[in-house]
Amino acid sequence: MDTNVQKRRENKKSLRIKVISLGNAEVGKSCIIKRYCEKRFVPKYLATIGIDYGVTKVQVRDREIKVNIFDMAGHPFFYEVVRNEFYKDSQGVILVYDVGLRESFDALDSWLTEMKQEMGSQANMESIIFVVCANKVDLTKRRVVDESEGRLWAESRGFQYFETSAQSGEGISEMFQAFFSSITDMCENGGKRPNPEVSIGFTKEQADTIRRIRSSKDSWDMLGVKPGATREEVNKAYRKLAVLLHPDKCVAPGSEDAFKAVVNARTSLLKNIK
Ligand code: GTP
Ligand code: MG
Repeated sequence: MDTNVQKRRENKKSLRIKVISLGNAEVGKSCIIKRYCEKRFVPKYLATIGIDYGVTKVQVRDREIKVNIFDMAGHPFFYEVVRNEFYKDSQGVILVYDVGLRESFDALDSWLTEMKQEMGSQANMESIIFVVCANKVDLTKRRVVDESEGRLWAESRGFQYFETSAQSGEGISEMFQAFFSSITDMCENGGKRPNPEVSIGFTKEQADTIRRIRSSKDSWDMLGVKPGATREEVNKAYRKLAVLLHPDKCVAPGSEDAFKAVVNARTSLLKNIK
């Protein structure tokens, strides 16, 4: 074959992408990448200093993908020094938290905010594939953030969610496969990721309501009525929530538990209202 034709064909098929890892210090970002690239796990904590950079090649369908991985330090100390430079031009972001540390889950929002700020006017979050790793699922006894809570956070933003363990390898190759395949799809479709509301099958209102119910302080708060509300007010609030969250209608993660909690809250309030 003519070498130029061959070269053109190879160029069309090969793709270069940049992905970055984000999340608090010590959640397991480097170990997840090491597990995938080197098939091993290092139990000793070696904090990433600034940024680690690596390259790997993967095959997605008929394309060869050259992946540049920038593994960020989670420690705030490194922020000013290096981290802010490296958000630019990424096609994929691996967001990691430790299921045994609630603050690392809560921090995901601020990681996204920081990224948006740093990217400034050129921020186009629609052209980036995000995956969320709920990591260290092997340490079941210390787990404090359950699957439905993590999944809801991720999927309500249009991000894929994976339960992972860099230690056992659980979920790691599935996560990377889905991640690279979504990035390839996005690149092949003009650089835009699919509309999340269409693909996830539940609304932002449903997701926000489940989150609100989870963090409510008592039954009044859960139903969204003032303490001392009448039976009618309680029933009205209950009906609205029941329609929104009924398991037959709502597929959002955690909707079944939220629905049960609302039923119980109504029952206990009605018992005490004359
Ligand atoms: P920074 O580079 O400081 O931002 O941390 P990091 O997020 O890269 O964390 P790292 O991968 O270095 O892992 C931190 C510690 O958690 C290490 O002691 C790892 O051995 C441990 N660790 C990482 N992943 C897992 C996991 O899935 N299960 C368990 N049990 N330990 C893990
Ligand atoms: Mg690291």
